[in-house]
Amino acid sequence: MAQRKFTRKEIAERNNKNDAVFIIDNNVFDVTKFLDEHPGGHEVLLGVAGKDATEDFNDVGHSLDAKELMVKYKIGTLVDEDRVEVKKQSVTWTVKDEGEKESSFVSSWKFPVLLGILVTVLYTYLFS
Ligand code: HEM
Repeated sequence: MAQRKFTRKEIAERNNKNDAVFIIDNNVFDVTKFLDEHPGGHEVLLGVAGKDATEDFNDVGHSLDAKELMVKYKIGTLVDEDRVEVKKQSVTWTVKDEGEKESSFVSSWKFPVLLGILVTVLYTYLFS
């Protein structure tokens, strides 16, 4: 299928079940024929039709199979002016702070407790 360039403005109008198009990572997908086949249902696809669905798509954590399937529905890309930088899929750890808090909590009680046990054992052996 011939691939062409689209503006975000023209995609915005293609937001219904007879013409459902969205953007993922600056690529444009026409999912009109896929609506009834999508394992996640047609509602979610229609919900993002006409829009940039990158975040929603990534939030679901689609499988490799899904990503391969997408190729079939790609109809083009965004014009240069409308492109955004594609964020590398990185595993960001938003609970990092909590993790750090936990580990400092662990070391803050484990160390004195272990020291206490060690001293008790030594004391028992040395002075009994
Ligand atoms: C051309 C684009 C898309 C393709 C080819 C696609 C394909 C698939 C496939 C194959 C699955 C089954 C699970 C898996 O293999 O990951 C799935 C599930 C799902 N998809 Fe998509 N999808 C697309 C776009 C989207 C978008 C834009 C959204 C959100 C707005 C979405 C939301 C979901 C949800 C909610 C599920 C169900 C997840 C679950 O049951 O755990 N999908 N999709």
